[in-house]
Amino acid sequence: MKKLIVTFVALTATVAGVALAADVKNGAEVFGKSCKMCHGEGGATPNAAVAKSFGVAIPVLSDAAIQGKSDADIKTVITAGKGKMPAAKNVTGSAIDDVVAYIRSLKK
Ligand code: HEC
Repeated sequence: MKKLIVTFVALTATVAGVALAADVKNGAEVFGKSCKMCHGEGGATPNAAVAKSFGVAIPVLSDAAIQGKSDADIKTVITAGKGKMPAAKNVTGSAIDDVVAYIRSLKK
């Protein structure tokens, strides 16, 4: 029984560790490298030339319409792309969670 409790505590700590691991600072760096050229600084100033060439509006990421999406939806946008947005193939693993955490940090 004692062993079971120890295992449970260890497991819980691991899960909490993973949840805390999403790193907004790293997410900001990843965003700077992989997203900013289209979405602009802080996701707030979409690149007009890119929007024009794609023929779509690029959303401001702090907007309620984006913040209202689930983390899972945003992850899918990053890994699979959406509409005119290409998948960010160089963003993988924990970097995906970090970028999502960064996007959440933009919420006003
Ligand atoms: C090549 C330009 C480009 C890059 C790079 C890019 N995006 Fe986008 N993004 C777009 C465009 C264009 C749209 C609008 C898509 C549409 O409506 O067709 C969009 C839409 C989105 C949306 C809203 C999707 C929805 O469900 O409405 C999110 C969230 C997003 N991008 C996040 C990111 C993140 C995070 C990155 C970096 C990992 C990134 N984008 C990189 C062009 C880009």
